[in-house]
Amino acid sequence: MKGVVLAGGSGTRLDPLTRVTNKHLLPVYNQPMIFYPLQSLVRAGIKDIMVVTGGNNAGDFLRLLGNGRDFGLSYLRYAYQDRPGGIGEAISLAEEFVDGDRCIVILGDNILEEDLGPFVTKFGAQPAGARVLLKQIDNPSRLSQLGVAYLENGQVVDIEEKPASPRSPFAVTGVYMYDATVFDLIRGLKPSGRGEVEVSDLNNAYVARGQLEADVLTGFWGDAGESIDDYWAVFQYVAKHWQHGTKSSGVVSGRNQ
Ligand code: TTP
Repeated sequence: MKGVVLAGGSGTRLDPLTRVTNKHLLPVYNQPMIFYPLQSLVRAGIKDIMVVTGGNNAGDFLRLLGNGRDFGLSYLRYAYQDRPGGIGEAISLAEEFVDGDRCIVILGDNILEEDLGPFVTKFGAQPAGARVLLKQIDNPSRLSQLGVAYLENGQVVDIEEKPASPRSPFAVTGVYMYDATVFDLIRGLKPSGRGEVEVSDLNNAYVARGQLEADVLTGFWGDAGESIDDYWAVFQYVAKHWQHGTKSSGVVSGRNQ
């Protein structure tokens, strides 16, 4: 299974913090934001990882992450997204790297406490399709900013992007597992009104095939790019609740004290 960390996009919701740098390079307590999703993949046993980024700061990722040695990796791959064409488009840049394998995609601003390993194992046992991770959110106005999954008998039957009146408490987090057909599905998607290939459309394409499975996270999930208040809440949670190594050794800090 290949891993893909998405670190492109515009980061406009964190402006002006993101005016001269990429969102995923901003600090979250004692590490740059992108360290956390990378550590989540490594902790889940993923060793082949690509970072997709874009904009003016792509070179900074190479300087920061290099070959991934600090994370216990022997190499990292990089791809460059010319413009923020959406999460679907960013995933498509990993097609050659994934090379017919399965992949786990994680958004570079998502910070998760739980070990993703058990979910990766479940996906491995799935004959085909995709798997997403959900998080119960009891605040409807926050849900209105997210992709919301509707479930029937434990199966996802629809994902609605930023619903005005969410009818389910389950947000789709930024962790997606896909089989090798994902790239063909992306090719079949049209960009949305905002000119982006939307990940909810991609996941709904798997729903239409009856091939989208889901698990619900119990540990902390933070989307540090959602707003300045969310960024700050994630920063504070990590500072307060996680164990921290003394250096960026790749030792996973996502463990509740
Ligand atoms: P978003 O937070 O939805 O988008 P954004 O990063 O452009 O921010 P904003 O809406 O505030 O302008 O993206 C979620 C993640 O997906 C983010 O961590 C970066 C990644 N992403 C890409 O890699 N490429 C893209 O084209 C987009 C839109 C997002």
